[in-house]
Amino acid sequence: MTKKNVNRVVIIGTGAVGCSYAYSLLHQGTAGEIVLIDVNNEKAEGEAMDLNHGIPFAPHPVKVWSGDYDDCKDADLVVITAGLAQKPGETRLDLLAKNTEIFQQIVKQVMDKKFNGIFLVATNPVDILTHVTWKESGLPKEKVIGSGTVLDSARLRYMLGEYFDVDTRNIHAAVIGEHGDTELPVWSHASVGMENIHKRIEDKAELEEKALEDIFENVRDAAYHIIKRKGATNYGIGMSLLRITQAILHNEHSVLTVSAHLDGEYGEKGIYIGVPAIINRGGIREIVEIDLNETEQEQFNHSATVLKETMAAAIT
Ligand code: 2OP
Repeated sequence: MTKKNVNRVVIIGTGAVGCSYAYSLLHQGTAGEIVLIDVNNEKAEGEAMDLNHGIPFAPHPVKVWSGDYDDCKDADLVVITAGLAQKPGETRLDLLAKNTEIFQQIVKQVMDKKFNGIFLVATNPVDILTHVTWKESGLPKEKVIGSGTVLDSARLRYMLGEYFDVDTRNIHAAVIGEHGDTELPVWSHASVGMENIHKRIEDKAELEEKALEDIFENVRDAAYHIIKRKGATNYGIGMSLLRITQAILHNEHSVLTVSAHLDGEYGEKGIYIGVPAIINRGGIREIVEIDLNETEQEQFNHSATVLKETMAAAIT
């Protein structure tokens, strides 16, 4: 379809994640055109039909259709959610070999159409698959972004909000590193209603430091807990992708813990990993290098090492 003067988002993969994201986009009126692509074309068609029936209630006019790779030529954003998903007991890294192959094929087909927008990757293991997308596409690193630890940071803010009984929007706290088992919380920069988190705990007799450890464990293992119960996660990641999309398409210059390519920042290079970054219409404007304390820096380097080793073993 010829592009009108609106933002076009192409979603590759219409599983639960792709569809939750499409539904969020529709609700918020974030994109003027939403294109769904799936290896199972009928599934993409059915999802597009279903979403279309909600358009009369959407906040802005929007076109939704099931398309093909030709639609990527004029896309502002191509979001990849396709690939195999984690089964109970499987880590995100277990998925690597299978999903790398799927990604190489997808990215090649997108680039064959002379795509020159931004790639946003959500499939796991997201840090490594974002790296695969960057390599395979040949696009500049700032135009290839992974969902990284945006969802983990959201989970952390939600759980801290519950614990402190403060609106999650007034909790500033981030998870960085691999989106997976080696991720870490940046307590040294966390605040609750503008007050340093440790100070807040000190001030209130009913609060205790130990709770932070439990909260972080729950954040880190959240996907396992959900997968055990419902087989997959989709709404949290759908909303996280929406948030990144808003930052890009609305040129927000927002700071989000996306998976970004490091070139010396945090003492690491040659990998994609979750770090705070300023996101705008051009993609990643800047990686924000905060001062980590010694423990955090060690944990971050360990997380980076695990990603590097896994990538070296799996990708030639
Ligand atoms: C999540 O964290 C499985 O990566 C997915 O929900």
